[in-house]
Amino acid sequence: MSKLNLNKTWNYAAATESTNHILLKEKYDLFINGEFVKSNSKKYFDTINPATDEVIAKISEANKKDIDLAVKSAKIAFRSWSKLKAKERGKYIFRIARMIQERAKEFAVIESMDGGKPIRESRDVDIPLAANHFFYYAGWADKLEYAFPNKIPKPLGVAGQIIPWNFPLLMAAWKIAPAIACGNTVVLKPAETTSLTALKLAEIIQESGLPKGVVNIVTGAGNTGAEIVNHPDIDKIAFTGSTNVGKLIQKSISGTKKKSTLELGGKGANIIFEDAAIDQAVEGIVNAIFFNQGHVCCAGSRLFVQESVANIVIEKLKDRMSSLIVGNPLDKNTDIGAINSKEQLATINKYIKIGQEEGGEIYQSKCSISKKGNWCPPTLFLNVSQSHTIVQEEIFGPVLAIQTFRTIDEVIEKANNTPFGLSAGVWTEKGSKIFKLTQELNAGVVWANTYNKFDPTSPFGGFKESGFGREGGLHGLKAYLKFE
Ligand code: NAI
Ligand code: MG
Repeated sequence: MSKLNLNKTWNYAAATESTNHILLKEKYDLFINGEFVKSNSKKYFDTINPATDEVIAKISEANKKDIDLAVKSAKIAFRSWSKLKAKERGKYIFRIARMIQERAKEFAVIESMDGGKPIRESRDVDIPLAANHFFYYAGWADKLEYAFPNKIPKPLGVAGQIIPWNFPLLMAAWKIAPAIACGNTVVLKPAETTSLTALKLAEIIQESGLPKGVVNIVTGAGNTGAEIVNHPDIDKIAFTGSTNVGKLIQKSISGTKKKSTLELGGKGANIIFEDAAIDQAVEGIVNAIFFNQGHVCCAGSRLFVQESVANIVIEKLKDRMSSLIVGNPLDKNTDIGAINSKEQLATINKYIKIGQEEGGEIYQSKCSISKKGNWCPPTLFLNVSQSHTIVQEEIFGPVLAIQTFRTIDEVIEKANNTPFGLSAGVWTEKGSKIFKLTQELNAGVVWANTYNKFDPTSPFGGFKESGFGREGGLHGLKAYLKFE
């Protein structure tokens, strides 16, 4: 096998995206009833660039009173928004989609500055997909009765939406677009480390002329989220985040009439058969676990390689890992950016330590890493089995646990032996194997000969501790409707 040696024989010149076209305020307030308003708490917290440790802006911390105001404004707005001609609703959503496209570059740069993801990903994945979600659901707004024939679809009311930090704008789009297309109104809270693009979206929403109160965006941490969950006038909770908080939310709303969808953690199995196209599969492994620093709920964090090709796959994988560029998220060459927060880096390092203590054999690619910021080199573990902590628990970082298998039944059993059920990948040239695995793997999404592909028309969601409910496609509409 000829080695890639990319880092030794090729020197990359930095190709850093400029930031001089970015307009950021020093302080961001809450977006309630179509206006930016100061929080009753009078408190602000810092949002930090995880690649430089610099404070980018101050973000308002919403308290109970603020949430009450936001929910009230959404409740009042619901009366007219839900009765507005569906075609008119669609027009506003199309306008928001177009405005995101027009400002795509600005959004991409801010997403990378605030969250640490490589500009290539925010530019080519996060922002275009966010716009696509608005386009897609704008199209459905006046066609709901065709989506659900023989039924009369009705909106639910006020949706409380709580999103994580790994795909900040994209998750806001996943939540807001279907909700308002169906005639609901929204109170959305971004994650505390990545509020900026949601607040920029609030600016677009304001400019778009969307009626006041249809979308309210409030910022803060877990306590603010809990105030949304517990507010009596919330009709539906849509949450994406950790399984622990998902369980807490389910407890708090049990016994109420609130509907819910929960999109929680994962521990995706990526399965490589001996008849797979090996080089493509190696790219697929890299994409599955190192995309977005592994901060992906559907990451392929458990790799299963058929024994007969294990040596060659692992050798090629290590070689490919050594060519990955870890560093400045704003550099267009960068493959792996900064870890989103100090807390998340501590979590990842804790798991790397446990992996070694439990006897796993670690391999990390060598890369020079800046002293400032939060970094983790691409990491893999060999010599691990089903009972190892790093095989069972979600790490949410660039850490891959590798196991081997001999037969198809063995790998199905191993892949399903997890509390989660969100995603899986299968690499084989044989269609019959793909069909068998897509049927027998207990996962909401199974990718064949690819990984981490997303599309607004395709439903996404999990089984077991990965949560319930689907986002995307018709399924995503259904979660915001009731039928008469
Ligand atoms: P988290 O679940 O605490 O945060 C997600 C969102 O929930 C944030 O907006 C947060 O402010 C909010 N939140 C926190 N506590 C809440 C509460 N009691 N009520 C309502 N909302 C609340 O996730 P965290 O702590 O940032 O990450 C911890 C772990 O969770 C990660 O290491 C990862 O394993 C997993 N995670 C999974 C995600 C996924 O997409 N499946 C996304 C984020 C984290
Ligand atoms: Mg930040």
